[in-house]
Amino acid sequence: MRGFVFLVVVLFGFLLNLDHAFELRKGQKTERISGSAGDVLEDDPVGRLKVFVYELPSKYNKKILQKDPRCLNHMFAAEIYMHRFLLSSPVRTLNPEEADWFYTPVYTTCDLTPNGLPLPFKSPRMMRSAIQLISSNWPYWNRTEGADHFFIVPHDFGACFHYQEEKAIERGILPLLQRATLVQTFGQRNHVCLKEGSITVPPYAPPQKMQSHLIPPSIPRSIFVYFRGLFYDVGNDPEGGYYARGARAAVWENFKDNPLFDISTEHPTTYYEDMQRAVFCLCPLGWAPWSPRLVEAVIFGCIPVIIADDIVLPFADAIPWEDIGVYVDEKDVPNLDTILTSIPTDVILRKQRLLANPSMKQAMLFPHPAQPGDAFHQILNGLARKLPHDKSVYLRKGEKVLNWTAGPVADLKPW
Ligand SMILES: *[C@@H]1O[C@H](CO)[C@@H](O)[C@H](O)[C@H]1NC(C)=O
Ligand SMILES: *[C@@H]1O[C@H](CO)[C@@H](O)[C@H](O)[C@H]1NC(C)=O
Repeated sequence: MRGFVFLVVVLFGFLLNLDHAFELRKGQKTERISGSAGDVLEDDPVGRLKVFVYELPSKYNKKILQKDPRCLNHMFAAEIYMHRFLLSSPVRTLNPEEADWFYTPVYTTCDLTPNGLPLPFKSPRMMRSAIQLISSNWPYWNRTEGADHFFIVPHDFGACFHYQEEKAIERGILPLLQRATLVQTFGQRNHVCLKEGSITVPPYAPPQKMQSHLIPPSIPRSIFVYFRGLFYDVGNDPEGGYYARGARAAVWENFKDNPLFDISTEHPTTYYEDMQRAVFCLCPLGWAPWSPRLVEAVIFGCIPVIIADDIVLPFADAIPWEDIGVYVDEKDVPNLDTILTSIPTDVILRKQRLLANPSMKQAMLFPHPAQPGDAFHQILNGLARKLPHDKSVYLRKGEKVLNWTAGPVADLKPW
């Protein structure tokens, strides 16, 4: 009986929320974040930094892409689009003497399995080879040993270059990249694969494809909690507990029969539409702390429920994630229903209005052609905010810091 009363209360609260959400969508109200955050998102990087793009032999970039054009569509494709963007960006300078930042266009994750999964096994050798080349042909690398250079390393654990966490931790960040600024999707506090000063970016999600699934904003959000994806990864984690540190398993075990939770492993063709009909979208960690769901939730105005302890979210210095989303500790997953149903309606409405702000969505996307405020511009803003470089980045004549022979022996072989 007590359970029944609880359910009634929950359902009532739920309907109340929907009612308001419906009104909101009719009115299309949006809200700007007050204070610095909104302003930072709309910053224009042009005039605030100059980037020199090294010209490398095409075997480091274009040739690799020609071999496998699928690299344009996977979640790490930002490494390719960022290159194209910079080539025609007004922040690009052809005069390295006036550059604030140096960029080396290597497509380290464009090495796909037959199923299309990007692998990072060749990345260390390829990266070393590229750095060898720029350091012998131009004087700029040796001047700082990379401290005014940035690299796009979007794979799971960034420049640790391994898809399994223990192996990635064991490897650490590639020794030659230890002074550079890393632009990566991986973000978790106090982790060897996240260097201080790195820029955490969203994974690539295809903008046109998402655009083509938009539904009229007047359609109500009739799903309370939505999730599609794996709860267990039996192949890689047969005993359970490692995958998603057990958080996804806990979602399934606690809520598979809860009518407020629309959760399943089946990926329907209406996936994007469903997210637009949901109030909350679960974004639990998987093998990595993030997944493309985070981007999809923002684009489709579904409040992201972030379940990944210590996650560092994309552009966290510009996007007010605490205001848009809901953070739930991994240990609190069994209380997810209570946590979400006890969020006051006005708080939900405010989150929805913030999510409806186009600048929030723009920052999550790598559109082609680029648009003001998109993820490319946020990366540049992040680089501009690091200027001017501290004097300590410049080494004394003959001073060497990096160790060219450190790291696993296999990484030292020529590429
Ligand atoms: C940079 O230093 C390396 C030795 O660490 C040297 O082989 C290379 O020639 C130097 N590059 C330039 C452009 O002087
Ligand atoms: C560089 O790393 C190698 C391999 O770990 C090590 O043997 C060597 O002593 C290191 N060199 C310096 C100068 O630290």
